[in-house]
Amino acid sequence: MPRRPLIAPSLLSADFARLGEEAQRVADADWLHFDVMDAHFVPNLTFGLPVMQAVQAVSPVPLDCHLMIEAPERWAPGYAEAGARNVTVHAEACTGDPRALARDLRAAGSLAGLALKPGTDLDPYLDVLRGFDTLLVMTVEPGFGGQSFIAGTLPKVRRARELTDTGHLTLLVEVDGGINAETIEQAAEAGADVFVAGSAVYGADDPARAIAALRATATAAQPG
Ligand code: DX5
Ligand code: ZN
Repeated sequence: MPRRPLIAPSLLSADFARLGEEAQRVADADWLHFDVMDAHFVPNLTFGLPVMQAVQAVSPVPLDCHLMIEAPERWAPGYAEAGARNVTVHAEACTGDPRALARDLRAAGSLAGLALKPGTDLDPYLDVLRGFDTLLVMTVEPGFGGQSFIAGTLPKVRRARELTDTGHLTLLVEVDGGINAETIEQAAEAGADVFVAGSAVYGADDPARAIAALRATATAAQPG
């Protein structure tokens, strides 16, 4: 059964002084990726809930919130309540049972996502992931846009795809970091469903054309 690749431009590479217009520029994307960084979990600081709400109010596409923050239990449900389509927290940042947080996110109306840094193994989270809807495999170290894709993360994508195809998990597999016209092919071949692209979309002269090209390459490269 062919899967439809979802392209999620990351606002991290947009012009922060014009976020509303920047959201409009990617109206033909599937999700708009919103990177929340707290200067603690990652060494960078971006935006939080009030800015998300302002973008959500004008965005033509649903928001995909990626929380690179400590204490996600405290903050994540607010993004779901504000109307995000998907809210992803980092496994490394959770202090309690991530399944309880996933239940809170679903109850607030969003999909629940779990993110893994490049060095975090998938296997310890297989049980926990039964309670989640998306798995975000970081393909760079979280914190900054414009970094190079780490191909060594692809075995995690392949394994998650296999577990989903065999019915052990029900997940959208998302890749984030260094995704561009070349690397998207490898990520799609490995079985990713959702492709975050910051600099490859907002750094392009024509973001709509960049989104279409990424989608076409991912569609052609997806297995089976
Ligand atoms: C990095 C962020 C990414 C970032 C990707 O920590 O999670 O979403 O925006 O940017 P690119 O596509 O430029 O690597
Ligand atoms: Zn991200």
